[in-house]
Amino acid sequence: MTSFDFGLRTRVVSGPGTFEKLESLARELGFRRTLLVCDEGLVNAGFAARAAAMLQEAIPFHAFDANPDTAMVEAGRKFAEPLAIDSIIGLGGGSSMDCAKAINFVLTNGGTMKDYWGHNKASKPMLPMIGIPTTTGTGSEAQTYALISDAETHVKMACGDDKAAFRVAILDPELTASQPPSVRATAGYDAISHAVESFVCTKRNAVSTMFAREAWRLLNGAYEKAMTEPGNIEALGDMQVGAHFAGVAIENSMLGATHACANPLTAHYGITHGVAIGVMLKHVVQWNAHPAYAELHPALAARLHELAQIGGLPQSLAATMARKEDIPQLALDASKQWTGTFNPRPFDAAGAKEIYECAF
Ligand SMILES: [Fe+2]
Repeated sequence: MTSFDFGLRTRVVSGPGTFEKLESLARELGFRRTLLVCDEGLVNAGFAARAAAMLQEAIPFHAFDANPDTAMVEAGRKFAEPLAIDSIIGLGGGSSMDCAKAINFVLTNGGTMKDYWGHNKASKPMLPMIGIPTTTGTGSEAQTYALISDAETHVKMACGDDKAAFRVAILDPELTASQPPSVRATAGYDAISHAVESFVCTKRNAVSTMFAREAWRLLNGAYEKAMTEPGNIEALGDMQVGAHFAGVAIENSMLGATHACANPLTAHYGITHGVAIGVMLKHVVQWNAHPAYAELHPALAARLHELAQIGGLPQSLAATMARKEDIPQLALDASKQWTGTFNPRPFDAAGAKEIYECAF
C-alpha cells in the first residue's frame, strides 16, 4: 500500500548551535509577544532565560508536569488569555511540545481539549509556534497531535490538527546534552520503538517507511554512544534527528501493539512510557514476526533486547510494578487502544495476554 497525502508542514533547522537562530527565526515569523511553554527543569537549567533573551517579549509558563492533562491545559489557557500573545514556543521534552499545542487549541478556538479529540476539529486559525526539543525521544515537534490526559478519567486523548504543526522545529543537539541518563535511555528507546512500529504498521506507505528506515539507522547506530558518552554531540545529533524522523514516520502512518500494551502499564502503575515500551517492544516484534523486520536488522528482537540492556531498562515486567494477576485486565485495556488497530498482526485481548505473559 503506498497511498499517502504528504507534505512537511514544519521547517526543520538542525545542527549544533542552531538554538542561537531562534532570534532571527522568531523575527522572521513576526513573533512580538510569545508564550514560552517550558518545564521547570529547563527554567532552572537556564534554557528559558536564553530563549527569552532572543525574543522581543517572552512570558514563561511552566505549571505542568511530565504527563500534561486537561486541568494543566486549562490553567495555561487562563494564564495566557489576558496576555494578548501572538505566538507560542514549546521548549523541552514531549510534554512541553504537547502542552504548547494544547494551549494553542483552547486559546484560539475555545472550548476544552475534549472538543479537539480526533483530527482537524479546530475551525479558527491557530497561533504560529516554534518547537525546540531538549530530549531525544518523542518526536512531538514533528507531529500535529497533542497527547493530553483527561484529568478525571485519565484517558489519553490524541488531539490533532494540521494547524497545530510547528512552523519551525529547532534541533540543536547541544540542548540535549543535559538530559539525565534515565531520560536519555527511556526517551531514546521510545524513539526506537516509533521507528520499528511505524515501519510495519498497516498504515505504512512509501513516505513513512522511508523516514522510519532512516530513523532506525540513526537511532540504532547512535544509542550506545549516546548512553556511554554523554557529551558526544555527534551521537546526540543522530539521536535527535532519528527521533524527529521517527516522529515524521508516525505523523504519516501510525504505531502498533507495543504502544497498545505500554499504555495500560502507564495508566495502572504509573510506569514511565519509555520503560513500558522497553519491556514490551521485543516481545511484540517476536509475536508479529513480520517479514519486513529483516530489512532493519537480521535478528531484530535480539538487537532490541541488547539495546534495552545498554539503556539499563528493566528486562521483564516482573522487574517492574506490574502484577501477573492483573494480566486479564491489562490485556482487555490494551485491546481497546486505538493504536493497536494498526498493528500488522490483528491484535485483540487474547493476543495482548500472550504478549504480556511472554514479557513477565
Ligand atoms: Fe512512544
